[in-house]
Amino acid sequence: MQKDNNSVTMEKIVSLAKRRGFIYPGSEIYGGLSGFWDYGPLGVALKKNIENIWWRMFVEDRNDMYGVDTAIIMQKRAWEASGHVSGFSDPMVECKKCKRQYRADQAEGPEAQRGAGDTCAECGGKYGEVRQFNTMFKTHIGVTEDESSVSYLRPETAGGIFVNFKNIVDSFHPKLPFGIAQIGKAFRNEIAPRDFVFRAREFEQMEIEYFVREREWKESFEMWREQSLGFLESVGIKKSSVHELEVPPEDRAHYSKRTIDFEFDFPFGRKELFGLAYRTDFDLSRHEASSGVELKYLEEGGNKFVPHVIEPSFGVERIILAVLQTAYTEDTLGNEPRAYLKLNPAVAPVKAAVFPLLKNKLELVAKARGIYENLKKQVPQIVWDDNGNIGKRYRRQDEIGTPACITIDFQTLEDNTVTMRDRDTGKQERLAISLLASRI
Ligand code: GAP
Repeated sequence: MQKDNNSVTMEKIVSLAKRRGFIYPGSEIYGGLSGFWDYGPLGVALKKNIENIWWRMFVEDRNDMYGVDTAIIMQKRAWEASGHVSGFSDPMVECKKCKRQYRADQAEGPEAQRGAGDTCAECGGKYGEVRQFNTMFKTHIGVTEDESSVSYLRPETAGGIFVNFKNIVDSFHPKLPFGIAQIGKAFRNEIAPRDFVFRAREFEQMEIEYFVREREWKESFEMWREQSLGFLESVGIKKSSVHELEVPPEDRAHYSKRTIDFEFDFPFGRKELFGLAYRTDFDLSRHEASSGVELKYLEEGGNKFVPHVIEPSFGVERIILAVLQTAYTEDTLGNEPRAYLKLNPAVAPVKAAVFPLLKNKLELVAKARGIYENLKKQVPQIVWDDNGNIGKRYRRQDEIGTPACITIDFQTLEDNTVTMRDRDTGKQERLAISLLASRI
């Protein structure tokens, strides 16, 4: 019997992620580094699968999209023009007694609010004045460490897209509306990183800047709302678990005229999974003014203007977290309780595991090895497992979300059939070796 998904806690997800090689705390042997995480073999595979689905759906399967991979560090002037140097900040308070720092706008639990003079929930001390903290990571370029060499690690991948707008137009002459997409690292010196990878200091974004004529922005916004929800479904996140929050003007980013936060019910509350924003012509106009390079679009007929932009912006880590949470399932199979990941096969890091029934029967092992090696050429994301008894192997694969387990037994030696066990039901069927690749 399957328990409902409310039994998922962060502890269970974090523990499984570490134990089974999905995600490890960063710099762990040195005591960790808050807000930084390392991906293990299964985490990398899961992340790549998610990113590949996104890229396929939003770049390769469309005729109006262009992919880029831009530098993480840009000239400081680009971040000044985009408003990040002056405005990319969060309000912060520091407790005068214990010196702990908090986001002033995120009081939760026993604290009613966090403002100057309010009481610190940790030590009972008082907070000092609220001040704005710019969350961009500062660095220096070259050997001289002075104001002139300052730059920043990008806080969003969007920046690199805007500064390449002209390159894409000049190289490809796209017709409006068209979009530029990028997947890559982003960095934010979060005041209070927390909730596993949900709020990290180094994370990955999948972003699109979709350039439109101003009059078209509403229909493009609707198109991207639908498309974005379609992407979530294709990685196994149910539409019904996503809630739209129309962000009020006072809470919107400095560049946005309309934003919807798509929220998800995480174990720690309903929080932003991804965002959809109408950034107007803010970024291109600002870069045009600051760089002195014209960033207009010339239409047939001679009409020249700065396009407006719709931006769907996904955080990869938050998608991974929602995927793991949705997949985490506890049930009873064969009278034994089990916890497993009911992952959509498209994102599962391992698509199938191949085993010999017994590891000490040479003829079974040789046959199984041959099948495994042949299959791996067709489906690279499969693994070999001959550790422990067959029941243990099934449980190990269930726990990492492997949809199918293929066992080579004595009958295989006679008729070239194998058993294939389904992760969710535990049911087995016999099928010909020749059918395996198409069934995985
Ligand atoms: N270019 C627009 C932009 O960056 P954002 O709402 O600040 O907008 C977009 O970020 C998405 O990036 C968020 O919806 C979230 O999924 C992800 N994200 C933002 N900050 C994050 C953090 N500290 N850790 C993990 N993901 C984060």
